[in-house]
Amino acid sequence: SHRITFGPLVAAIDQGTSSTRFLVFNSKTAELLSHHQVEIKQSFPKEGWVEEDPKEILQSVYECMERTCEKLTQLNIDISNIKAIGVTNQRETTLVWDKETGEPLYNAIVWLDLRTQSTVESLINKTPGRNKNHLKHKTGLPISTYFSAVKLRWLMDNVDEVHEAVVSHRAMFGTVDAWLIWCLTGGKSGGVHCTDVTNASRTMLFNIHTMNWDPELCKYFGIPMEILPSVRSSSEIYGLMKICSSRKSGALSGIPISGCLGDQSAALVGQMCFQDGQAKNTYGTGCFLLRNTGAKPVMSDHGLLTTVAYKLGRDKPACYALEGSVAIAGAVVRWLKDNLGIIGSSEELEKLAASVGTSYGCYFVPAFSGLYAPYWEPSARGIICGLTQFTNRSHLAFAALEAVCFQTREILDAMNQDSGIPLTQLQVDGGMTSNRLLMQLQADILCIPVVKPSMPETTALGAAMAAGAAEGVSVWSLNPEDLSEVTSEKFEPQINPEESEFRYARWKKAVEKSKNWET
Ligand code: G3P
Repeated sequence: SHRITFGPLVAAIDQGTSSTRFLVFNSKTAELLSHHQVEIKQSFPKEGWVEEDPKEILQSVYECMERTCEKLTQLNIDISNIKAIGVTNQRETTLVWDKETGEPLYNAIVWLDLRTQSTVESLINKTPGRNKNHLKHKTGLPISTYFSAVKLRWLMDNVDEVHEAVVSHRAMFGTVDAWLIWCLTGGKSGGVHCTDVTNASRTMLFNIHTMNWDPELCKYFGIPMEILPSVRSSSEIYGLMKICSSRKSGALSGIPISGCLGDQSAALVGQMCFQDGQAKNTYGTGCFLLRNTGAKPVMSDHGLLTTVAYKLGRDKPACYALEGSVAIAGAVVRWLKDNLGIIGSSEELEKLAASVGTSYGCYFVPAFSGLYAPYWEPSARGIICGLTQFTNRSHLAFAALEAVCFQTREILDAMNQDSGIPLTQLQVDGGMTSNRLLMQLQADILCIPVVKPSMPETTALGAAMAAGAAEGVSVWSLNPEDLSEVTSEKFEPQINPEESEFRYARWKKAVEKSKNWET
């Protein structure tokens, strides 16, 4: 059979909270040629706890690579055209493994996990003036259950295997990117233990000004610095793929892994938000609005995070972003499906919600992991209010979608206040953006247009671009003029602003009720 010739191809591993993907792009056109996706199991061993199995995460990557390579072969596309692989990942999720056996020493503690709530509360109580922003000048972050440091501390204090490995200098810590890169570059036989600046900036151990692990922060959390990965830029060759296999994906062996970005940073790059002031909102398990602030870290006065957006090359400057993080977006759909069983799929949710077109005064605050931005209230819990005899599951479905939109509105308001220059439209991406009702609702609730690219895999695209642009690979230009235009679809606001404000004010009341639930 004849082979179709393509220019250089670049692949990306996108390891998200709910699923893993492997995707292959044409570096000339940014066209997505093939991909495969596998769902990831989450376990909830105790109330508020969220874990995933590191080995399952790794296996899912292999599985996605294998299937994608099979699909490429069926398309007569030569796998040897893949010149680089990028990694993008759910951020903050914390792993510790043994560098001699290569075995994980506990499950991955997922970013959403609340087990460190009491630790966080007592840390805040010990700061002068009970200030959750006590470490913000260095980290850009409030003290919260969200970030890795407290999760790592918990592992060291509560898991004997982790404690022993740390004492005997066999422990390695990493977020999902570091775990994957270490395993894929050889694991216990010579794997590279590294992370990139964007992932490092989510640990609370990283100084976003010096761009290094911070000895004082490590001391504060009692973390020995030798277990930390080395911190690299988001676009450089970290190591080469080592897959010993007779399978199709064995052909990926020897390809450089040369891009690494936390998923929200990757989406910012994939959406081509390279200019100061450009922003995007990604609807995944959670929902994350990032606004590029250029070469300077801007500290928020309205509950947003300051984070490293990207650093596209060893000698390139770092760019920063303001971020509004919402813990629960797509996760509310999974909850309605798996926990309540009132829908069978996200398509069904959209249909139900569309059939009523209103929540009939029902408001749903899905504060399952406390409230993140702009509140940072670990003790908040989810509530559904405004119920009457009339309320049915369709109204609940509508309220769930509306909750995602209201949460984004809160972030957008904070972002506009911080920057003083309001966004005039919102660029969006992520799984939930295929829900047209949600997109329309979002435009209605923000009172500005919502713009969605026709190629939805912007997170993976960003990681692939970083990998393809790395020194020594250079098959992809990151020069904005050379990048192909993104085609997109626009949703204009259709309800009047008074109606929108009325609903938003009600939502705010519901949020107040969800706060301080236990006290
Ligand atoms: O900070 C968590 C974030 O990186 C997770 O993203 O897409 O899995 O919701 P996602």
